[in-house]
Amino acid sequence: MVTVINHPLITHKLTTLRKEETSTKDFNQVLDEVAGLMAYEITRDLPLTEVEINTPMETMTTSVISKDIVLAPILRAGLGMVDGIRGLIPTAKVGHVGMYRDEETLNPVEYFLKVPDLSDAIVMVLDPMLATGGSAVMAIDVLKREGAKHIKLVCIVGVQEGIDAVLEKHPDVDIYLAAKDPVLNEQGYIAPGLGDAGDRIFGTK
Ligand code: PRP
Ligand code: URA
Repeated sequence: MVTVINHPLITHKLTTLRKEETSTKDFNQVLDEVAGLMAYEITRDLPLTEVEINTPMETMTTSVISKDIVLAPILRAGLGMVDGIRGLIPTAKVGHVGMYRDEETLNPVEYFLKVPDLSDAIVMVLDPMLATGGSAVMAIDVLKREGAKHIKLVCIVGVQEGIDAVLEKHPDVDIYLAAKDPVLNEQGYIAPGLGDAGDRIFGTK
């Protein structure tokens, strides 16, 4: 399943992310805000379990989220989405997946992994950009190898090539985007996109 989350607030804030002149500070703040807004949609189907509580008035049966949630940012750029989602799901654990794209081949290279127990958790893989899909596919490979069974992929901007690559290898994974862009250029960048997400988040270019 692929969901492009269509909401005026997300579209407006995404415009800020796309603008070349947006500062590093503003980029980070707005990226957190977009990720937080996306959290509402990506958590829509979380399972609930009944609990009995006492309100100041009486006892009642209500519901709470019953599964562990693990946020799995793909380093570096995925880190820019963690706080926005964690603000709404403060109990979420965070597992880090270090991966970069080789600039020549565009193939992903794994360089770091530190994750909590994934076996019964809903794992949300975070990365602003879904370009060729190589990084997302490899991150999901790694997380499944580590025991993850319920995975959602949450990206800000994606293209059809990346979506196809993920669904071909991992048809069980739900994909959420804030926007689907038309083109993956010859250098493997999304156009119009927002540029190099990691560089924009960390001010490295
Ligand atoms: C970017 C981005 C994704 C990947 C997407 O990371 O954050 O992880 O490229 O491209 P793909 O879909 O073609 O794999 P990058 O490799 O630039 O590393 P960084 O986050 O450290 O900047
Ligand atoms: N990675 C990025 O950061 N941006 C793109 O457009 C493609 C891959």
